[in-house]
Amino acid sequence: MSGIGVRIAGTGSAVPEQRLTNHDLASMVDTNDEWIVQRTGIHERRIINQEAGESQLTLATSALERALADASMQGSDLDLIINATVSSDMTCPSTAHRIANELGAAPVAAFDMQAACCGFVYAMNLADSLIRSGRHKAVGVIGCDAMSTLVDYEDRSMSILFGDAGGAAVLTADDNPTLGCIHQVIEGDGNGWESLYIPRKQRDVVPGAVGEHIKLGCLRMDGRSVYKFAVNKFINVIQDAFESTGLTVDDVSQVICHQSNIRMINSAKEKLGLPDDKVYINIDKYGNSSAGSVGLCFDQLRKEGRINTGDTIIMVAFGGGMTWSSGVWQL
Ligand code: UT7
Repeated sequence: MSGIGVRIAGTGSAVPEQRLTNHDLASMVDTNDEWIVQRTGIHERRIINQEAGESQLTLATSALERALADASMQGSDLDLIINATVSSDMTCPSTAHRIANELGAAPVAAFDMQAACCGFVYAMNLADSLIRSGRHKAVGVIGCDAMSTLVDYEDRSMSILFGDAGGAAVLTADDNPTLGCIHQVIEGDGNGWESLYIPRKQRDVVPGAVGEHIKLGCLRMDGRSVYKFAVNKFINVIQDAFESTGLTVDDVSQVICHQSNIRMINSAKEKLGLPDDKVYINIDKYGNSSAGSVGLCFDQLRKEGRINTGDTIIMVAFGGGMTWSSGVWQL
């Protein structure tokens, strides 16, 4: 370990005002509140208002702006911005550069990162490594997705699941080397990528793909396959975080899980004996916001005073790729 530690100087998050409830969805596709709540734990999700100019850019910018304010810092203090997302407004330039521009951060290194729902956890881990290497001193990390721009609202198997949100953190170099990420996993396996993908052209559509609803530019998901893969992977990744660090449940204040499906989170809680008050749930209000979910939970927990300086926390996620990731943080 280098002599450099990493401090989380501030966090922020942003969710759109506009709510999309299960009842709203039931008037759009053949579904109902009871099915959605039972199978996912979701009651409503937030959706950007594109006509009013909201986008992944505006959500991500707000989240980082709030994290900077929380850290009593300005955009110009950052030397790197990582924007983890699958819903960038444009592929060129990176949205990270436009966020930097909005926040007056220049010159600055900036890039978008695609790791689907793992985005925030991947980006936090990477930022920690870059700071410890001495390469960067102040990094703005954003996990943010405007999934409503990618969802086919005529497809009930998916439209019920996703929402829009962003979470951000500002990480700074610290003299205390024990602060920061003390264990991290960034992994994936491309085998199975076709269970979650966004075809842009007809040729991207997986041969034999079922469904009358193939809309280019919209997310396609084999929910059952993803569930089967993720339910065990989730448990293994959390278990590994405990075993690799020698920590027990009593040592950590929160296990922050990607808000994918309440049944998956409950299954992990049950198998690993995690108490309710250490596993934050907000999927009921925000749905699955992909790269936004862990950062949103992290910020809400900090703002509620449930995570404090000195605490040890675990972040864990899985997503398209397939990807999985964890980070154990000493705050
Ligand atoms: O963040 C990472 C990305 N993705 C995920 O984490 C998703 C993981 N997967 C899931 O969360 C679940 O698979 C879903 C919530 C997407 C679906 O739940 P499920 O329990 O796996 O349902 P299913 O796809 O097996 O469908 C069960 C039944 C089917 O009817 P039959 O064939 O049993 O008659 C579906 O047609 O439920 C039907 N169904 C619905 N019914 C009402 C599917 N979607 C709906 C719906 N409303 N929205």
